[in-house]
Amino acid sequence: MSLINSSRIADPELAPEGHRSIEWARRHSPLVDGFLRDRLKDGALEGRRVAVVVHLEAKTALLATVLADAGAQVVAAGSNPHSTRDEIAAALVDRGVEVHSTRDSGYDAWEKDLMAVADTGPELIIDDGAELTIRMASQRPAAFQELKGVTEQTTTGVARLVELESRGRLPFPVLAANDAACKHLFDNKYGTGQSTVQAILNLTNMLMAGKDVAILGYGWVGRGIAAHVRALGGTAWVIEIDPVKALEGFMDGHRVGSLSDVLPRADFILTATGGRRAVARHHFSMMKDGAILANAGHHDLEIDVEALADEASDFRTVRPGIDEYKINNNQSVLVLANGALVNIAGGLGHPIEIMDLSFAVQGVGCHELARGTVPQGVNVIDPLLDSEIARAKLSSHGILLDVKEPGQADIIDDLLGPEA
Ligand SMILES: NC(=O)c1ccc[n+]([C@@H]2O[C@H](COP(=O)([O-])OP(=O)(O)OC[C@H]3O[C@@H](n4cnc5c(N)ncnc54)[C@H](O)[C@@H]3O)[C@@H](O)[C@H]2O)c1
Repeated sequence: MSLINSSRIADPELAPEGHRSIEWARRHSPLVDGFLRDRLKDGALEGRRVAVVVHLEAKTALLATVLADAGAQVVAAGSNPHSTRDEIAAALVDRGVEVHSTRDSGYDAWEKDLMAVADTGPELIIDDGAELTIRMASQRPAAFQELKGVTEQTTTGVARLVELESRGRLPFPVLAANDAACKHLFDNKYGTGQSTVQAILNLTNMLMAGKDVAILGYGWVGRGIAAHVRALGGTAWVIEIDPVKALEGFMDGHRVGSLSDVLPRADFILTATGGRRAVARHHFSMMKDGAILANAGHHDLEIDVEALADEASDFRTVRPGIDEYKINNNQSVLVLANGALVNIAGGLGHPIEIMDLSFAVQGVGCHELARGTVPQGVNVIDPLLDSEIARAKLSSHGILLDVKEPGQADIIDDLLGPEA
């Protein structure tokens, strides 16, 4: 069967537009297109079945292309029903990758797409939110037992896999790509921070200066968003359940408060907790009229949009990506990108340079799993590999580092004196 027949995409004719976007991503991805390509030349991926289940856009397509060029049989699907770019899916099929995904497919079709990927019998998965891995554990147990390894992109997905391991249900090695320094220090903070604020401003065409912005969760993502809000003249209000994180937000110079204190004043309300229903049914009536809500966390239900729809007496789409719900007679609550990850479903996703780093980690992780160097359980990438990726990124900017010279190390013998 041809790939067009075995794939489920919106329109193969969109491929030329997709190729242009992937080529633009390639031009700014020295690690994936150079460093990773070189590592994969050892043939470790030759003939291996690799599933890529990450938001299907240009940077992901570049990673899938590089894996396929290294000889892997790649099959791809989106990690969220709202984030797939149809032109990218078409271009990937044109490049020899089987794809099961369409934009805004709805949850039922998305679930079927994930199972179609599972039914190709992947050996290795590059996952996001552990969306494929978790479903294979419950719905395709035999194929799940055959998996040779998973690399995982997100905080939420790593937490799910750790939970699976603690229940004794993880029979293969996992690399927590998210926990690599080269991933979360840059992707979660700078990438999500910039692209979330950028997407909100693009969707609304509004100004950040002078706005009060409630940010739920001051982890890596929350602190990146807060920094970008402040850089544009907004006031970030940190809402946390962890006192240490809240104190960090305070010392970073942001305002800190409880949800009930901050909601009545907030112009924008942004979630980045990694959990569900951080903004729940009882919170909507505390908001001021016209408050705008957006989510940057993995769950589409960080903002309980279902409960909001249930409470609403009226609903309409006011602009592409902006839905208005009327509650309490005439209070307006606006939700961006259906409550899905706003930077991806409602924007262009992370900056290319950031995904170049993240996907270098994912690609190197996949390569190590194929080589069989990763032990059972959930592992962090070898710190030496992490440093190698950082060094390669610096070198792509023409930056070389110094090494410690003899005589620069602290020697405690000088302080201890001769042994008695
Ligand atoms: N949008 C993107 O492109 C993108 C990129 C990276 C990560 N993520 C996702 O963003 C989410 C957060 O990631 P992270 O790396 O910042 O995680 P993290 O664990 O570093 O931070 C999450 C923070 O949320 C706080 N929190 C949890 N529940 C809360 C609640 N109900 N109210 C207030 N605070 C609460 C926690 O105390 C923690 O400090 C995850 O779901 C992750 O997968 C999204």
